[in-house]
Amino acid sequence: MNLYEKLKKNATDGLYPMCMPGHKRNPKWQMQNPYSLDITEIEGFDNLHDPEGILLDLEERAAAVYGSRFSLLLVNGSTAGILIGISAVTMPGDTILISRNSHRSVYHTAFLRQLKIEYLYESINKDTNIPDAVGLEEVKRGLKEHPEAILVVLTSPTYEGMTSEISKIAEVVHKAGKLLLIDAAHGAHFGFHPYFPAHPIKEGADFVIQSLHKTLPSFTQTALLLWNDVLWKERIDLFSSIYQSSSPSYLLMAGIDCCIQFLEGDLKGFNEYTKWLQTFYQKAKAWRCLKLVQVKEENGFRKDYGKLVVLCTHIKLKSLKLPEKIRKSIQDFCGGQEISLTGTLLYQILLAYKIQPEMAMRDYVLCMTSVCDTKEGLEYLFQILSKIDSCCEKEENISYTQNAVLCKRKRMYHQYEIEKRQVQIVPLEESSGYIAAEFIYLYPPGIPYIVPGEVLEQYLIEELLSYRKNGLQLRGMQDKQGKYVKVLKETSL
Ligand SMILES: Cc1ncc(COP(=O)(O)O)c(C=O)c1O
Repeated sequence: MNLYEKLKKNATDGLYPMCMPGHKRNPKWQMQNPYSLDITEIEGFDNLHDPEGILLDLEERAAAVYGSRFSLLLVNGSTAGILIGISAVTMPGDTILISRNSHRSVYHTAFLRQLKIEYLYESINKDTNIPDAVGLEEVKRGLKEHPEAILVVLTSPTYEGMTSEISKIAEVVHKAGKLLLIDAAHGAHFGFHPYFPAHPIKEGADFVIQSLHKTLPSFTQTALLLWNDVLWKERIDLFSSIYQSSSPSYLLMAGIDCCIQFLEGDLKGFNEYTKWLQTFYQKAKAWRCLKLVQVKEENGFRKDYGKLVVLCTHIKLKSLKLPEKIRKSIQDFCGGQEISLTGTLLYQILLAYKIQPEMAMRDYVLCMTSVCDTKEGLEYLFQILSKIDSCCEKEENISYTQNAVLCKRKRMYHQYEIEKRQVQIVPLEESSGYIAAEFIYLYPPGIPYIVPGEVLEQYLIEELLSYRKNGLQLRGMQDKQGKYVKVLKETSL
């Protein structure tokens, strides 16, 4: 079956998308036959790289709904926005402070622009063992230790929906004379309903990048870069013309237009959606074993409750009476052994019930909701999770294993410094003490566990091996099986 046939089949086989894109393929939000609309820069349709008509108007409307002075339409996702935003404000050799959990595109920009990066670490949420966003005190530490940094780049919200205290962070960043760029790829729906955190541009960030396609009705790849200071306009235009296609899709831009039109409207959809979410969280309190993450909103952290994070550690699956086909797929997955529930297993069970989650980690599954979900879709997810919960039993001695993504990294080189160095391939199990020459990450979320130039320490390797054992695919490595890792010939010892 070719890709087109497979997509057509996927469109009709009844799988409910608890994942991106945010439009959820809901017919209520669809445009007419795309071929009849597809054009390039013909007369009267403006040019993204020099907008003065209908596209400029759309950028102004997008800026107005989010409360920024300027916006740039992005047709290559937040990835392009991050490349453009960071490149615009930096020069080769500059230092930037970034959250360690930054998306790959932040690291890629540093590589391309030869930037020095220094890390800000997020803390661990003690109730859930899931990383919070970066806190105010950590930003203060970073600024104090690296006065040479010119830009602070934070991910807020995180993939799991945790947000930083942007208003206070913006204050200290600006007081130190630096700029603040927020990767809000997952926060394009913020600011439109009090159930969600405030929008970072209104909280004082200098630049905000957000994917419309992740949490709003908009095509995959559509995103926005928002900013306020006219000073950056010329450089943003320059890097937009470098990183974005010279033939940006009018279908994608029309998708942005429809999304902005929705946000300019009465926003009633958000009232219904947030009511359904609140009911979901309320009812999930009755689960005995599964845990729907609701955090104490303290130390300035908030949670985007549109991200349903279902924790499933230390649970045994006892008596789930599954249809034959589903049972078979689970048996295949766990090799017929005793079943301790893991994120990857829960993901498989949900798939077997025709629910497509966004992501599985070892200890949890992430389901992404949006204003385009249906009440029936959310109710179905709740019903299936409740059924699974009723067939589970808690294991004794609950103690979480440390989440390695949070551990401080030992870095020997910046990525751009290792490009010309000699490399070799070693088994991952035997790579302790070597300096990584490639990324290692899980996708989703695409946040690197290992960045080229960092030391592969034993505890990090063990964490990666445990992911592999749990059926999670390690990516970024030349060896697609994740067994061998590319390292520098020299070691850190
Ligand atoms: C935190 C974060 N930033 C940036 C991106 C890149 O966004 P896009 O897929 O729109 O290019 C992602 C993608 O998953 C992400 O999770």
